Amino acid sequence: MSAIGTSTPRLDGPAKVTGTAQYAFEHTGPGEPVFLHPVTSTIARGSVTSMDTSEAESQPGVLAVLTPWNAPRLADTSEREYVICQDTDVLYRGQPIGLVLAETAEAARWAQSLVRVEYDQQPHDVGFRTDHPDVYEPEVVNGGYEPASSTGEMGPSLARAQTHGHVVDQSYSTPEEHNNPMEPHAVSAHWDPDGPLLTMYDSTQSPHGVVSTLAPVLGLETEQIRVIAPHVGGGFGSKGAPHAHDVLVALGAMHLPGRLIKYAVTRQQMFVFVGYRPRTVSRIRLASDADGRLTAIGHEAWSQSSRVKEFVEQAAVPSRSMYAAPNRRTFHHAVPLDVPAPYWMRAPGEAPGAFAAEVAMDELAEACGLDPIELRVRNDPETDPESGRPWSSRRLVDCLREGADRFGWSERPATPASRRDGRWMVGYGVASAAYPHMVQSGSQATIRAEGGGRYRVQVGAVDIGTGTWTALTLVAADALGVPAEAITLEIGDTALPYATVAGGSSGISSWGSAIFAAAGRFRTRYGDDPPAGAETTAAAGDNPELERYRAISFGAHFVEARVDADTGEIRVPRMLGVFSIGRVVNPRTVRSQFIGGMTFGLSMALHEQSVRDTRFGHVVTQNLADYHVPTHADATDIDAVWLDEVDEFATPMGTRGAGEIGNVGSAAAVVNAIHNATGARIRDLPVHADALL
Ligand code: MOS
Repeated sequence: MSAIGTSTPRLDGPAKVTGTAQYAFEHTGPGEPVFLHPVTSTIARGSVTSMDTSEAESQPGVLAVLTPWNAPRLADTSEREYVICQDTDVLYRGQPIGLVLAETAEAARWAQSLVRVEYDQQPHDVGFRTDHPDVYEPEVVNGGYEPASSTGEMGPSLARAQTHGHVVDQSYSTPEEHNNPMEPHAVSAHWDPDGPLLTMYDSTQSPHGVVSTLAPVLGLETEQIRVIAPHVGGGFGSKGAPHAHDVLVALGAMHLPGRLIKYAVTRQQMFVFVGYRPRTVSRIRLASDADGRLTAIGHEAWSQSSRVKEFVEQAAVPSRSMYAAPNRRTFHHAVPLDVPAPYWMRAPGEAPGAFAAEVAMDELAEACGLDPIELRVRNDPETDPESGRPWSSRRLVDCLREGADRFGWSERPATPASRRDGRWMVGYGVASAAYPHMVQSGSQATIRAEGGGRYRVQVGAVDIGTGTWTALTLVAADALGVPAEAITLEIGDTALPYATVAGGSSGISSWGSAIFAAAGRFRTRYGDDPPAGAETTAAAGDNPELERYRAISFGAHFVEARVDADTGEIRVPRMLGVFSIGRVVNPRTVRSQFIGGMTFGLSMALHEQSVRDTRFGHVVTQNLADYHVPTHADATDIDAVWLDEVDEFATPMGTRGAGEIGNVGSAAAVVNAIHNATGARIRDLPVHADALL
């Protein structure tokens, strides 16, 4: 009997659909709540010379206006993203430079518009370009990876392939994109006057991460901050760390001890200071012999970064392990601009990098006259090209073949732009997907017997809408050898044992490993009939198998695209993903992760684009009317399946990460299908009709 693998409705579903699940902005605290709205800069670079707050302060309901001159002091100002109201520097347009506290949200928002700000304005530069004079090579890229890698020599292979094989040498670009979960970033917080204790109800992917990051900034011990997050309405990465809004609310709470300070970031502000996917350019160089066997793979990536904080998309990293080639080279460049700090957006690095690399593979297949699946099969590496280690399991080829069968790949037009259905040009596209299996070390779990065969399981994890409440309950049931009904799970509170971030597709792997460790120790100590009150806490040890084996989740995307021959209108009537992620904990919610990620990829391919106005420095598409995402009419038939397997090396559950892989490669499959339909090769996202006419 196993709870893992049982298709289980969300345990938190009833609370959510009946409106009793409390989100960050909805929590109540001591006394009447106080609402916060920031004052934000209207210039992109320079400094604030004066702020006249008198009119704002005289408005009904306004309790305080804080500025760099009167705000509480922060203890550590080394991380500029969190330096709010401490000095007069302006580093990007829309930067918080003050805040209003008022009895209503409306009063706070109105009053901030009345603060008169004078600036010393300096010239700014938000124009991303690969030949920017300030381009530099970073020392590390997101994920902690080395920025460069080199094996063999690119030159001779490329030269030989020019005459005896095939070469692709192209550049691909992705725009700025902004995380827009349904629930914006939001915080309700209060400062205990007898504390000091700061209690924050935060919409976050990492309750303990908020504590450990903000404690030094605020000059507190970690025990003096408690973050509570029982329910979170999506994150997509930007909630993986605190941002300016958390500091704003903390400043407000310090200024008005004993009051609950509330701030929900507006939809427009979601396009400013909570992180985003930076622009990228990837130059891909592929060389192959006449039969399509790769002899060289080069991936050089440029990523928009910020003068507030360096963040470099690790766009070239996935090319280190994806296909075999004796000669390989990757490197990264950062383009620092007067823009807010970029941060994680679903599958950072992998999503833009795989878009470029998987379109390039489609171009190579065409140059070789090979089916794009066959090209990928020919270059499937037996061991990890980067580390030389054996795979824990690599079944990319099985994903490609299974998908080809299910999708009807044999019906694909062999020649681009050769199939019509009335006005519609019809094409099929494929792309591979890969996402590294990550287990963060340090998560802990507590198991307590409650008598009558019931167990309480505590871990400071968080459910960001992905199904963690349910999945960890299934994991705990198997770890203790009891039915899921016997488990009471507690998550979403830093009063619970330490847990790592819901990010990098590592949540269930990391927290589940802790639950298995605690349950193993518990059963050794107390057996299977423990006395009520018996309790054990344990941390997951590092998994030595992950030193021996390279573990990556794999997948294959299949897309049908239709393009109107007269207008260029693009439709994607069908997407299929086949994934290899080890064991599936909850089929019902993992399918949602996959099809959600694939919809994200469809959106990346055709819709999302944050357009930055170089004159003023801000994003003009700062709402969900101008920043396009797919509607139901755009996403008609999206399906995901997976291989039936167990990865015995990856985690004690036999699982690998599943959260982000649906978004990796899916945009490339859309673009490859558009090429098959029309013959047009688009290398810059998003693809709009005008590019096809
Ligand atoms: Mo994911 S973008 O690492 O939360």
